[in-house]
Amino acid sequence: MQTIGVIGAGQMGTGIAQTIAQNGMKVLISDLDLAHAEAGKAKIDKALTKLVGRGKLEADQAEGILAKITPVADYSPMQDASLIIEAATEREEIKQSIFEAAGKMLAKDAVMASNTSSIPITRMANYSPDPERFIGLHFFNPVPVMGLIEVIPGLATAQSTTDQITAFAEGLGKQVVLSQDEPGFVVNRILLPMINESIFVLGQSTAGIVDIDKGCRLGLNHPMGPLELADFVGLDTCLDIIRVLYKTTRDTKYRPAPLLVKYVEAGWLGRKTGRGFYDYTGEAPVPTR
Ligand code: CAA
Repeated sequence: MQTIGVIGAGQMGTGIAQTIAQNGMKVLISDLDLAHAEAGKAKIDKALTKLVGRGKLEADQAEGILAKITPVADYSPMQDASLIIEAATEREEIKQSIFEAAGKMLAKDAVMASNTSSIPITRMANYSPDPERFIGLHFFNPVPVMGLIEVIPGLATAQSTTDQITAFAEGLGKQVVLSQDEPGFVVNRILLPMINESIFVLGQSTAGIVDIDKGCRLGLNHPMGPLELADFVGLDTCLDIIRVLYKTTRDTKYRPAPLLVKYVEAGWLGRKTGRGFYDYTGEAPVPTR
């Protein structure tokens, strides 16, 4: 049975680990320390229990999926992995130290992938032991539900790596979009300006939170309005991505909305902190403006 290493036990890392285990592979999951990795596995347990409760999964299937996921204290067990996927915080210096440390454990023919949503793959490949075996593998949240994975080869990525990783992504039951290594790749390059613009619309009082979201839900048939979606993605992550787009292209159309910067400075980061454009501390989300 194939073993995959997942680094980062947050929202994306746990979703990735769950999806891989659901598709019959073993997963080693790591984070800052064993306690964080174990907390990640507990989150997956909770998600699977919810699915069992809704009759979407049998209890023994959930147990089987969980049994395939092993939290690890450091990267050394990942020497058995055929693929290591980094899904840590969207900060280049953090990712660099992960690729350097985990790279020491990368098996001879194994591939290292990053779930970055916007940092250049070609540049990060240099932090790994072999840029030919380094690639972008961008999942969407919630990973077990969303049908897309972006595959992003860097300049030095070997075609065999791209082929192998595309087959892996399709083996997870997802469809693949191949993107050049350009800022934001395909989907975030389109999504983040929309989210950022919706925050300008709010900041200029053109409409309130409820109407902006209602407009996009009903007018565009999106499952979530852009402000709900921003809270779901995390306002800090949205700001990081739009800043990368702005910094790398120097195109002012990507300048962050001042209200987005303020919310992040206030620590109102969306669902994960209980408050963003909506307040999540009660039964149902309540708009904050
Ligand atoms: N594992 C497996 N299945 C799960 C699951 C999990 N952890 N969580 C939910 N599901 C399933 C549910 O069982 C349900 O299945 P059925 O339709 O068969 O009943 C389905 O997913 C929908 O779940 P819910 O009923 O709980 O919720 P919903 O209908 O309100 O939909 C949503 C929730 C899927 C999140 C939907 O609102 C949606 O698609 N929103 C947009 C999400 C989006 O745009 N994501 C991309 C963000 S951008 C990104 O990720 C990239 C980046 O780099 C920033």
